[in-house]
Amino acid sequence: MSAPTVRDATAGDLPAVAAIYTHYVVRTTMTFNTEVRTPREWIERFERDILDGPYHLLVAELEGVVRGYVETQRFRPKPAYARSLELSVYVDPEARGTGAGGALYGELFRRLEDTSYHRAYSIIALPNEASVRFHERWGFVHRGTLTEAGYKFGQYLDVAYYERAL
Ligand SMILES: CC(C)(COP(=O)(O)OP(=O)(O)OC[C@H]1O[C@@H](n2cnc3c(N)ncnc32)[C@H](O)[C@@H]1OP(=O)(O)O)[C@@H](O)C(=O)NCCC(=O)NCCS
Repeated sequence: MSAPTVRDATAGDLPAVAAIYTHYVVRTTMTFNTEVRTPREWIERFERDILDGPYHLLVAELEGVVRGYVETQRFRPKPAYARSLELSVYVDPEARGTGAGGALYGELFRRLEDTSYHRAYSIIALPNEASVRFHERWGFVHRGTLTEAGYKFGQYLDVAYYERAL
């Protein structure tokens, strides 16, 4: 299989991106979302935050098929957080471990060089060994874990905060 390629998402990619995320919402505790985003919500968010806003949505393709994505958003709403980004990265379960996640982070961090963004955060619902290893490999540092902050599928879940200087 050839190496993943990464590019900016277009509106036409949103159904594929939504399908990847929906799997993790519906089947796993890796995201604390419990309801899928509607197609309208995906489009509104894309137009407002990516096309007309300062944030990113990159997709990774393998053999011409979108198999993963990374999106950025403001870490927290208050104005002083404007230079801190929260990242969300998801790879199709069948394409995990093929380098798609790494290709997405490589391109994203290249783009964030020489910008005013100062910190990137990834908030990892535990347990998620693959994501913890992945983020450590990309230079993220564990800054703390909140215990039982989430509740999904009948269980309390811890959440770990990982930080990377940009
Ligand atoms: C975490 C995730 C984005 C990583 O993307 P990926 O394409 O699978 O990872 P890559 O193939 O680019 O691997 C890069 C590095 O991540 C680490 N890694 C990836 N999968 C791993 C696993 N199952 N176990 C341990 N380390 C793993 C390794 O350090 C790997 O480097 P190596 O291959 O040189 O050992 C992907 O596995 C995924 O989508 N997971 C489910 C959703 C999720 O947890 N998203 C993050 C929410 S915080």
